[in-house]
Amino acid sequence: MRTTVGIIGAGPAGLMLARLLHRAGVDSVVLEGRDRRYVEQRQRAGILEQGTADALRAAGAGARMDREGIVHHGIELRFDRRGHRIDFPGITGGRSVMVYAQTEMVKDLIALQLDEGGPLLFEARAVAIEGVADGNPAVRFVHAGREQTLHCEIIVGCDGFHGIARDANPAAERRSYERQYPYSWLGVLADVPPSCEELIYAHSPRGFALHSMRSHQVSRLYLQVPNGTDPADWPDERIWDELDTRFAVDSDWRLERGPVTAKSVTPMRSWVTEPMRYGSLFLAGDAAHIVPPTGAEGLNLAVADVVVLAEALADRHATGAQERLDAYSRTCLRRVWQAQHFSSFMTTALHTDPGDTPFDARVRLARLHRIADSTAASAELAENYTGLPIG
Ligand code: APR
Ligand code: PHB
Repeated sequence: MRTTVGIIGAGPAGLMLARLLHRAGVDSVVLEGRDRRYVEQRQRAGILEQGTADALRAAGAGARMDREGIVHHGIELRFDRRGHRIDFPGITGGRSVMVYAQTEMVKDLIALQLDEGGPLLFEARAVAIEGVADGNPAVRFVHAGREQTLHCEIIVGCDGFHGIARDANPAAERRSYERQYPYSWLGVLADVPPSCEELIYAHSPRGFALHSMRSHQVSRLYLQVPNGTDPADWPDERIWDELDTRFAVDSDWRLERGPVTAKSVTPMRSWVTEPMRYGSLFLAGDAAHIVPPTGAEGLNLAVADVVVLAEALADRHATGAQERLDAYSRTCLRRVWQAQHFSSFMTTALHTDPGDTPFDARVRLARLHRIADSTAASAELAENYTGLPIG
């Protein structure tokens, strides 16, 4: 098999890249290790920055998002038993975010790719990457029980945090940076209309809680829990009681309860590998960087990477120019580190840390009060949350 761009992974990064390349007249093949159902059902993030929503529209993949997504013009920070709204458009020159589940975006991109785009092979697991240093790139993969080779000009590793692409760059050529957090998130989906119109990020002495949503009928809620927590230790009533305590305010606000349909624990990690290119191999999305979910940045970073890469590949295709491709890693890493900064800031500002002294806890509250009270401080949050410019 032969193509121009071989893409490993059909998450948001791989699918969006394939879509953008198709629109630019560059052919590609996408290899996805899992089956279609698995990829479409996986519960992930749900907030699209303004730039991500715009990129989906520009790629001709925004129609259902615009029909079913919910535009949010702000968030609430809740601490000290009070809510403080951060208004996005007012302090960012009109920017907002879109609530639209990553799984829905993935379904839309898969349907478009199968309909209009190049080959997208499910249950096609990449097992080796070859020839990226000597200009003869190829991906060996197993599909329908048979090992095959995909020859290409460029390989893009969009294979997430547990993929194989990153390791094709020899250890001596790359460097990783990492931070682990001493807590995880217990996430639940519940069949109950959200008890809020905008997301609530709550800090309480018992830890962080987040009220998000998937639609007007389905709520998505998270609780900070210790690392190693077993979801089985959290029956539904215990989850609702703990959410009630962490969201408690001095007003008549109430958290509505409903049937919990999914429950899982996710660890929190910040992680970057540099550079994001080695010879003919490029990395995009979670294959190159992970952020803790508190800033809602992961999906948006993945999309930003492939927008930059698709433009560079389109340029190379149209004119033979390599400059933007050569600048890919540098261009993306600048934004990646801004997102790392914001995500670790949101995480440490809102969670309690088991190592905190009483002094640390008071400084954290002072930081939150500063954001609530100062337009400059809340503008810093709003600009990052709605998304820094791509490219
Ligand atoms: N061969 C083929 N496919 C692979 C292989 C392999 N060896 N290894 C992994 N994959 C596939 C996975 O099955 C997955 O579908 O690569 C895909 C990677 O997708 P994601 O993990 O969704 O990563 P990405 O597209 O970068 O999107 C990042 O997902 O985890 C969230 O918070 C993150 O929202 C962000 C987004
Ligand atoms: C989600 O809806 O899953 C979600 C929203 C905001 C976050 C993280 C996750 O910061």
